[in-house]
Amino acid sequence: MKPGQDAPELESFYHLGHGPLGARACRGTACFVARHLDLERWRRATSAEARVYCLGQCHRAPAATGVDARPAVKVHARRAVVLERLVGEGARALSDYTRQGGYVALEQALSSPPEAFISQVERSGLRGRGGAGFPTGRKLRAVAEAPGAAKYVVANADEGDSGAYIDRVLLDEDPHAVLEGLLLAAYAVGARRGYIYVRKEYPLAACVLHVALHEAHRAGLLGHHIMGSDFSCEISLEVGRGSYLCGEETALLNALEGRRPFVRARPPYPAQEGLYGEPTLVNNVETLANLPWITRHGGEAYAAMGIPGSRGTKVLSLNSLFHRPGLYEVELGVPVRTVVEELGGGLRTGPLKGVLIGGPLAGVLPPHLLDTPLGFEELKAVGASVGHGGVVAFDANTSIASLVHHVFSFGAYESCGKCTPCRMGARHVERLFARVLETGPGPRSGARDWEEVVEALRLTSLCGHGIGLGEFAASVLRYYAEEVRACFA
Ligand SMILES: Cc1cc2nc3c(=O)[nH]c(=O)nc-3n(C[C@H](O)[C@H](O)[C@H](O)COP(=O)(O)O)c2cc1C
Repeated sequence: MKPGQDAPELESFYHLGHGPLGARACRGTACFVARHLDLERWRRATSAEARVYCLGQCHRAPAATGVDARPAVKVHARRAVVLERLVGEGARALSDYTRQGGYVALEQALSSPPEAFISQVERSGLRGRGGAGFPTGRKLRAVAEAPGAAKYVVANADEGDSGAYIDRVLLDEDPHAVLEGLLLAAYAVGARRGYIYVRKEYPLAACVLHVALHEAHRAGLLGHHIMGSDFSCEISLEVGRGSYLCGEETALLNALEGRRPFVRARPPYPAQEGLYGEPTLVNNVETLANLPWITRHGGEAYAAMGIPGSRGTKVLSLNSLFHRPGLYEVELGVPVRTVVEELGGGLRTGPLKGVLIGGPLAGVLPPHLLDTPLGFEELKAVGASVGHGGVVAFDANTSIASLVHHVFSFGAYESCGKCTPCRMGARHVERLFARVLETGPGPRSGARDWEEVVEALRLTSLCGHGIGLGEFAASVLRYYAEEVRACFA
């Protein structure tokens, strides 16, 4: 047992605990903007004591556990990378994965020194798909070169970003791609131990991964002398207990160590001092799923897609208000308009009012900015973000006051409480807008009040949770100024 495990001060951090997930309705952002399509389900979601912010079924929102229709899966890129097998039947079983070229990349990498793999990833220009967009090759090199008695690799399968569901579908239907990516990363950095941290809200993913690890072990793809080489690595699965914050990499490391999952101050970064104080590579599921393809086809083939600064492809998760919701693998650089109008086919419930790209803790893109290319710097320049690729479009049924209330209510519920601006500021804004929704426009002082909180969140929060809340609010103030002004008489 880990230190403190099951202690009340630790367990109180988590919303869902150790028991089965049970029957739940979702109150994630895609479900919130689609609440008018099933008010009864939304009422169930919002009246439950333990909240569930995203079941990863945004394509059929408002969602609940039980029925889980597969989303449409399409490729709008010169080559399919992440969705390579998912455009077909997927590859849940090891035999299906190997029949489609699975584990060839690992075999190839093991026949050369780790440096060969790291330089291919550097050449690919791949940036992390978990939200921060950090160059993956640089992170691999940092961990490989960091001094340490042991090294660790961690697959971040927490996918808490409400509105994104690519990691869920990858884990459910192509688990060996993630496992192979993690093994490639372990080989590259010299790790003999790896973890996959999967969120509780994805029970099928946890089952599928369990079987995949077992299959890989039996086939000599995990454990001692993998594929007869000198490389040995064990990987284990850890299932979350309901906490958005555990997706933040340092909180995740604390969770794995059995500590209360507060965010850690940086530096030191996990690449220098991560799990148990040793150099640790933390990568997102989709990032890892890119690695076998890059190994097989070379970094340059990957970099040939996309635009400078944003190379390769990204899978976008379109929400249920689109005519054609689903997963779309696009080349980075594609105009957001192409995604919204051509791929998604526009909204089926009325004119577009805005799009949240990359999660609730990122900027909202208004219709007049749809020509912005989907790139890390390009979206940042207009106050938005690629994030994890959730594309949650909303219509006139969602007022800006209700959206701000929804996002800050989520922010306050999921704040780890370690830093003051996030712990107090999120709750303050949530209450302010709850009052506006209940009793109409608040006093003029409220406007100044929340703008100050937004600035404090952006500038002084310890991690991306508080900063993201601030960025979301800043984009609302910028692009929906009139509607925000009307909230304060
Ligand atoms: C509040 C918060 C939640 C996060 N949740 C996730 C998550 O669910 N999945 C994920 O991969 N990254 C998440 N991240 C980003 C991770 O901290 C980290 O940047 C990422 O796992 C690194 O992997 P990558 O370089 O492959 O993107 C989150 C960050 C913050 C601030």
